[in-house]
Amino acid sequence: MTRIAFFDTKPYDRVWFDQYAADFGFQITYYESKLNEQTSALADDFEVVCAFVNDTINEQVLETLYQKGVRLLAMRCAGYNNIDFKAAFGKIHIVRVPAYSPYAVAEHAMALLLSAVRHTHHSYVRTREFNFSLNGLVGFDLHGKTIGVVGTGKIGRIFIDICKGFGMQVLCFDPYPDPALEAHYTDFEDLCRRSDIISLHCPLTEDSVHLINRRSIGWMKDQVVLINTSRGALVDSHALLEGIRSKKIGAAALDVYEEEGEVFYEDKSSTILDDDVLMLLISMPNVLVTSHQAFLTREALQNIAKTTLTSIESYVKGEVMEHEICYQCDTCHKISGQRCF
Ligand code: NAI
Repeated sequence: MTRIAFFDTKPYDRVWFDQYAADFGFQITYYESKLNEQTSALADDFEVVCAFVNDTINEQVLETLYQKGVRLLAMRCAGYNNIDFKAAFGKIHIVRVPAYSPYAVAEHAMALLLSAVRHTHHSYVRTREFNFSLNGLVGFDLHGKTIGVVGTGKIGRIFIDICKGFGMQVLCFDPYPDPALEAHYTDFEDLCRRSDIISLHCPLTEDSVHLINRRSIGWMKDQVVLINTSRGALVDSHALLEGIRSKKIGAAALDVYEEEGEVFYEDKSSTILDDDVLMLLISMPNVLVTSHQAFLTREALQNIAKTTLTSIESYVKGEVMEHEICYQCDTCHKISGQRCF
């Protein structure tokens, strides 16, 4: 029976994986700890490891996993910026779940936007304390506003459709524009200059680290609203904080944060956080933070479990894995219909 070591387990992860694992004939051992240099040895005698977005998957961790007998790393997420692909190549195959519910993320982005501009999160707290005052809750209509969508892939294009439903004007930036998409593409600077709201839907890459920085914030309209449901390091948090303090940024809604690794997904309510920037951001009345939960719908969790286990089954059967990735997928064996190596 194939044994899977499952890291960074939360109760909601187990619901669907437990349900399907038996059908696939797999045995899963769940570890609550994240995968990192200290925990990688737990994968002793497992052929497959299942990991997540905030696990540390560097050269040292991959080497330990390889020495322990791991030959497949199944990421139960879409993003993979936390993996040293070069260190894995030739040793450990890597699969991911490229799309589990782009609707979940796009809908959460709109939920954040609506809360940010209509102050729903403040109203909720007020009315629970029988404070029915409307002072300070003036919002603005989304209808007729210009929204800049950065990244027009699976999530970005669903978000664009939602925004069009609200009667918004949509501007897009993507280094690989899709000519089939009915959208107005422009360059990033122009998008920043013309948008009332900017929403990020691109991956974190060497080119996109700190895409939102002092310079690009400087291009933006006064009182711009920024939504980030992609990856934290797309935004320079210090620059964001400055933009909020100077009142250049009207509101920010963040589902991700560049230093989220040790904090998000955990209950830190009785801890003093080490991260001053995060504490200051959370303390701002016009900043709304959710804990990387955009993906968290029943449909997404079900798809994540099915797709991950199907990839593992393909690996066990010696078949090509549809969702395998490496650092050179444009030249690896995949182009001739085989595994990456
Ligand atoms: P996708 O791969 O379908 O689309 C990404 C798009 O971004 C592509 O069109 C690509 O050309 C474009 N792009 C690449 N570099 C860019 C840059 N520097 N500037 C602008 N556009 C750029 O990916 P998908 O499924 O739409 O996901 C987008 C991102 O959402 C993921 O990379 C991930 O970081 C994030 N995500 C967040 C989740 C959450 O729970 N908060 C869950 C799932 C994904």
